[in-house]
Amino acid sequence: MCAAKASKNKTEKRPDKNGKKAPEKAKKSAPASVAASPKTDGSRFVVVGNLKGGSGKSTVVFNLAVWLAGQGHPVRLVDLDPQKTLSDLVAVRNELGWEPFLEPPLDSTDLPSFGAGSWTLVDVGAADMAGMLEAVGYADLVLVPVMPGQADIWATQRYLKIIDRERPDHCAIRLFVNRADAGAASRETREAVVALEAISGMLASVAVLPARLGRRIAFCRSLSEGSAVFELEPKSKASEEFQALAQAIVEPRRGRNRKT
Ligand SMILES: Nc1ncnc2c1ncn2[C@@H]1O[C@H](COP(=O)(O)OP(=O)(O)OP(=O)(O)O)[C@@H](O)[C@H]1O
Ligand SMILES: [Mg+2]
Repeated sequence: MCAAKASKNKTEKRPDKNGKKAPEKAKKSAPASVAASPKTDGSRFVVVGNLKGGSGKSTVVFNLAVWLAGQGHPVRLVDLDPQKTLSDLVAVRNELGWEPFLEPPLDSTDLPSFGAGSWTLVDVGAADMAGMLEAVGYADLVLVPVMPGQADIWATQRYLKIIDRERPDHCAIRLFVNRADAGAASRETREAVVALEAISGMLASVAVLPARLGRRIAFCRSLSEGSAVFELEPKSKASEEFQALAQAIVEPRRGRNRKT
């Protein structure tokens, strides 16, 4: 493991390499874009996290990994969750012979650079806070799936406060609603989006992606089959929604802070 870049009680900015503390981030400015990454080799380091269990972290990492690999990107997975859902999923996929093959996930983030054009995707929940903070310290993007519901909104707000202190300056934080009730107009989903927009307005790095995933059985099925939703049910709504989300992640200009 790399030296930890963060501790649980940290309240100050990390000093830069000259020992100076970075200035406080502006409270209000245009949301940081993933495109503003200082990396010039096209590689991206993405953490998919949330303190809340069951929000869809492993589902999103897995589907995104297959989608990126299918586009020809080298993909490296890191599974920091002791449950090892992502690792199990990849093992099932590879046993069943799905293409593209995914390399088994690593269990630490000690290789921050992985090569030109590569995507590192880290699956991390609350069980490994030190690992989560270390991973966020490397991130170009933190993706936060949020289920509609008051407890999920509160947990997300806390999570954002924690990771906003740890992220590199260029790192964007993007929220999206997962497991939205079918029917975009459901009251719970609308309220969740409004609450997330309000939270995102408080931190310059944070924006809400307009793409969202509905609560769809295809996601559950795909987990047990070791396949991505767009492989298993290419014409499904789940497939359409996931691919829109993946596009918004890979082409961040499409995913700017548009109000939904
Ligand atoms: N959009 C969705 N529609 C329906 N089911 C979903 C959706 N997203 C995730 N799920 C299901 O919800 C459950 C939890 O998803 P997942 O394991 O990805 O969450 P997680 O955040 O990684 O959970 P944990 O915190 O336990 O690691 C799984 O059974 C998964 O199939
Ligand atoms: Mg998980």
